[in-house]
Amino acid sequence: MRRIYMDANATTPLLPEVLDAMRPFFIESFGNASSIHQPGQRARAAVEHAREQVAALVHCRPAEIVFTSGGTESDNTAIFGILRPGDHLITSSIEHHAVLHAAEKARDRAIEVTFLPVSASGVIDPGDVRRALKPNTKLISVMMANNETGVIQPVEEIGKIAAEANVAFHTDAVQAAGKIPIDVSTIGCHLLSISGHKLHAPQGIGILYVRRGTRFEPLLFGGSHERQRRAGTENVPGIVGLGKAAEIALAALTDGTEERIAALRDRLEHGLLAGVEACGVNGAGQPRTPNTTSFYFDHLEGEALVIALDLKGLAVSGGSACSSGSSEASHVLNAMGVLLARARASLRFSLSRLSTDADVDAALELVPAAVAHLRELSPMYQKHMAEAPAQ
Ligand SMILES: Cc1ncc(COP(=O)(O)O)c(C=O)c1O
Repeated sequence: MRRIYMDANATTPLLPEVLDAMRPFFIESFGNASSIHQPGQRARAAVEHAREQVAALVHCRPAEIVFTSGGTESDNTAIFGILRPGDHLITSSIEHHAVLHAAEKARDRAIEVTFLPVSASGVIDPGDVRRALKPNTKLISVMMANNETGVIQPVEEIGKIAAEANVAFHTDAVQAAGKIPIDVSTIGCHLLSISGHKLHAPQGIGILYVRRGTRFEPLLFGGSHERQRRAGTENVPGIVGLGKAAEIALAALTDGTEERIAALRDRLEHGLLAGVEACGVNGAGQPRTPNTTSFYFDHLEGEALVIALDLKGLAVSGGSACSSGSSEASHVLNAMGVLLARARASLRFSLSRLSTDADVDAALELVPAAVAHLRELSPMYQKHMAEAPAQ
């Protein structure tokens, strides 16, 4: 059976060029980047080269990049690194759990937290950020693009509000990196998180951009790695892989790759809208990352559809992958005011540079057939049909 992967927001495979770049650092050039001998110095040079490659992707100085174990660690470092008991955090109700659950934990530690609402199409209102400011507000954390809907948030406006109020601004750019341009000066952020495995680097590597002069308490203590901002022996192969992936992702922003992915996503959307009744796009009409679409197929269970499609060879996800296994409806769709039944009937398709026209053709065959089959079996759908006015 041909396998089609449309779950790139959950994770992406390594690109062959990324694996090639990493390979020497597992065996021949295995040195510890803190060692002063030659193997160590080779590893150090590779880490510093990767730092430059990642800095180019977000337009910052290499020294402002701190390598971490991924998006979750970067988000936690931003929150717990800046905030102290008595401080106030402004964040949103559609953040990834890496921010949301960290914010909830911060609340247990006597940090005040405001969770901002979003519009029906999944956008945070910068006016709400301004209105939520308090004298003790120390951090605003708002994501750059949402992992479930792809909706891009007005981070530049929020950055201006943060600057005027002299408050630190963190943005989780895990789902933006490699998909849309990122310039930390334009955003006006002090901290920004990226995760390697969302852009064809390995799992377990990421970065936190920390603007020069931004004081924060590290999450981990130990050696003086990463200029005392993140203790622990550097994951040299992972860092090298992330550097290479960042270089490729930067080129993809201008060589037509992202436009090609957007065209595939749009063809998938139009095909499904035309070929399936009672379906639609969550977050439609908003600027979105080019690879993502969140679809609802009313009158069925999204989880059942994910399984049915998987059996036919198509990998997609219901809600966010990190909450799969729990049957709770997505907190993102809930925050957008999507009714529970529709939220549970929603699926995320997320493409990557490896997606092809043939993948979209196959999805346009498989999805309408699977939806029709599940609806035939669905008491929800039968009830809906029985109640529908006769044509
Ligand atoms: C928006 C967002 N932030 C953070 C994370 C966590 O990143 P990691 O898997 O590297 O811990 C994810 C992963 O899905 C994400 O989508």
